Amino acid sequence: MKKITIAIDGFSSTGKSTVAKQLADYLDYIYVDTGAMYRAVALFALDNKILSENDFNKEELIKILPEIYLEFKKNKDSGKVEIFLNGQNVEKEIRTMYVSSFVSPVATIPEVRRKLVSLQHKMGIEKGIVMDGRDIGTVVFPEAELKIFMTANADVRAKRRYDELKEKGDTITFDEILKNVQERDFMDTNRKDSPLIKAVDAIEIDNSEINQEDQLNIILQLAKDRIVGRV
Ligand code: DC
Repeated sequence: MKKITIAIDGFSSTGKSTVAKQLADYLDYIYVDTGAMYRAVALFALDNKILSENDFNKEELIKILPEIYLEFKKNKDSGKVEIFLNGQNVEKEIRTMYVSSFVSPVATIPEVRRKLVSLQHKMGIEKGIVMDGRDIGTVVFPEAELKIFMTANADVRAKRRYDELKEKGDTITFDEILKNVQERDFMDTNRKDSPLIKAVDAIEIDNSEINQEDQLNIILQLAKDRIVGRV
């Protein structure tokens, strides 16, 4: 069966990774969460004191970029793919609000983007991949057979994030999350290098009022149409 490339872009907390994982499972494709890669670089910068509340030494980060080694490995127990930063599993750390609030400035740096885009290219070279992020359909795989652009209203997204973090025991408030969602929307869409924009040939899905099952079925049908060459 023909293998295709599926690019899923969109605003933060629109559930891109949930649907991307479901698609990859169903189609037996590789799933790559590119946001995790930007988060891991932000964590590296925080750990090395290059980035903090008051200061961001971009030159230093660019200089030590070659020291960052990222890989994804499947957790044998959970079956989930997890990210490793220089050999260490950082899947949990990169999902905290602490990292979320520092990741957008890191993602504006062209040298960081070039490094990560090059890695992403290698991962998708053989197709059979579902990749989610902000620039997958526009920059990483502009030739992807299926491009989805996901949106949802900011309150709905913040509520989903809030419920998720609450369940993990985080004490964050809804307003703090909403503010972070709005700030990231602004930075993601307004940065100079590879801003978040809908590719001309992407299919937009606003999932503010669509449940996960319906959304999966819509995208799955679009993927099947492309795999069998109906489109
Ligand atoms: O999808 P996420 O929320 O985990 O992404 C974290 C941040 O990384 C997000 O604020 C924007 C950035 N990002 C990016 O610039 N390009 C990508 N392909 C993926 C994420």
